[in-house]
Amino acid sequence: MAHMIVAGNWKMNASKDAVAELLNGLKQGAAAVKNVKMVVFPPFPYLAQAQLELSGTDIHIGVQNVCAAGEGAYTGEVSLAMAKEFGVSYVLVGHSERRALYAEDDAQVAAKYVATQLVHMTPILCVGETLEQREKGQTLSVVTGQIQAVINVAGGASFANAVIAYEPVWAIGTGLTASPSQAQEVHHAIRAHVASIAPKQACSLKILYGGSVTAASAEELFAQADIDGGLVGGASLQADSFLAIGQAAK
Ligand code: PGA
Repeated sequence: MAHMIVAGNWKMNASKDAVAELLNGLKQGAAAVKNVKMVVFPPFPYLAQAQLELSGTDIHIGVQNVCAAGEGAYTGEVSLAMAKEFGVSYVLVGHSERRALYAEDDAQVAAKYVATQLVHMTPILCVGETLEQREKGQTLSVVTGQIQAVINVAGGASFANAVIAYEPVWAIGTGLTASPSQAQEVHHAIRAHVASIAPKQACSLKILYGGSVTAASAEELFAQADIDGGLVGGASLQADSFLAIGQAAK
């Protein structure tokens, strides 16, 4: 399979100074990370800074959320067209924190996914089960259900321009990582589910693992057959650790 993707979700962290330091570190180290697509997801106020600092590097920019509507009376929202003006090419949709803290449901997630593709940007569709769902043996049905909700609206062929991130909720920000075999089992089921509807797209679909990925855990995770990179939170806030995860994906 072609290049891996290593994406850094900064969440609601950083400051102008911290962003300057992080971007500078990434700029210095990016050339050493070859054949891996690196993407950063800064908070909106730092997009201009990211665009300026990362121009001339191979690091791509994404946003953590977006409004599905085009423009108008949506107080507090940010549109895809606005993001695009800052060089953004990826959009996280359905992150579990958006689902849990902001009550985003499958319909809203699907609307954001479709809107993102309409402007030729790439959605990274996040899916994952809670600990309770895992303990009840519902992991595969929850995850494939979240994907099917998008397929019902966007169709299976839409995965030609999308990425999926499997992020078990119990592993996000907890220091707990799914074992490589636990992750591979779910990634395989995700690819099989997409293949049952869109076989061609399923082969080339990138499926990232997320949930407390560190430089130490990345290599073994990325060695799994159906893991095509990572969506990294905490460890993406330091240039050294994020670049080390990029190196592990080579
Ligand atoms: P984490 O976050 O690496 O800090 O667990 C991952 C994510 O939520 O995308």
